[in-house]
This record gives sequence, structure tokens and C-alpha cells, in this order.
Amino acid sequence: MIIRFYFMCVSAVLIHKVCLQVTVEGVISGSVVLPCSSTQHDHKLQDIDVFWRHNGSKIVYDIIKGKNSVEQQEPRYKNRTETFLEEYKRGIFNIRLTALNHADAGEYTCLIAHSSEHKTVELIINGV
Ligand SMILES: *[C@@H]1O[C@H](CO)[C@@H](O)[C@H](O)[C@H]1NC(C)=O
Ligand SMILES: *[C@@H]1O[C@H](CO)[C@@H](O)[C@H](O)[C@H]1NC(C)=O
Repeated sequence: MIIRFYFMCVSAVLIHKVCLQVTVEGVISGSVVLPCSSTQHDHKLQDIDVFWRHNGSKIVYDIIKGKNSVEQQEPRYKNRTETFLEEYKRGIFNIRLTALNHADAGEYTCLIAHSSEHKTVELIINGV
């Protein structure tokens, strides 16, 4: 399994935020960890609300009041997602996506609602 991280630095000169977009590569039937971390980590677990979406609308994963919520999850991600509960308090909301297939490619957004932050991860799937 090959997982590589790239950082594409967009408009680094104009605005002082460097490296806005993250790209992750995975292979068919492999797994990847999609990164999402907040600059704030002093929130109580019950105040944490994070929403992962794919290609703008598909529900991949919700963390509501610090609890994992998969009831609304799109069927195609069922049993293929994993989160790291012990890291929520540190402001880290990474998810692991397993059994990758071509339709998993595209743009993932991580909306950290409690701190009004928004992260984007581009997933590239390699292999046939
Ligand atoms: C997910 O796993 C559960 C329990 O192992 C199983 O009953 C269910 O059919 C699985 N769902 C999918 C979409 O694979
Ligand atoms: C998401 O978008 C990518 C790139 O356009 C596409 O390859 C992929 O099939 C899409 N997947 C879903 C589930 O919409």
C-alpha cells in the first residue's frame, strides 16, 4: 500500500496561509487516512461537531457532540470508515477509508463546525 502526501501551496505569497490543499493517494482495495485537524484544541468533547463530505454532498462521516454518527452515512461508505476518537480532544478528526475503489476519488471536505474551519483533501486512486 502506498500512501503519499503532497502539499500544494496556493497563493502562498498573497496570503500568509501556506499549503491550503492536501492531496492523498491510495490504491484500489487499499486504505488511506484523510487528514483534518483544527488549529483549536481546547474544546470539550461534547462541543465537537465535524462533518466529512465527498464531492460536495455525499455524507461520509459525521461527528456530532463528540460522538460518531453514521445513521445518515451514504451506503457506499458503510463499514469502510474508521475514526480516531482518542484524538478528537487534540483537534484531530482524521478518517480512515478502507477497501478503496475508483469512485472514492475526488474532493473530501472536513467541516469543523464548532470552530468554523473547513479543510479540503483531494483523493487520487491509482491502480486498475
Ligand atoms: C456492515 O457490517 C455489518 C456488520 O458486520 C453488516 O451486517 C452489514 O451488512 C454491512 N454493511 C455493508 C453495506 O456492507
Ligand atoms: C467524485 O468525483 C471524482 C472526480 O470528479 C470522481 O472520479 C468520483 O467518481 C466521484 N465519486 C462520487 C462517489 O461521487
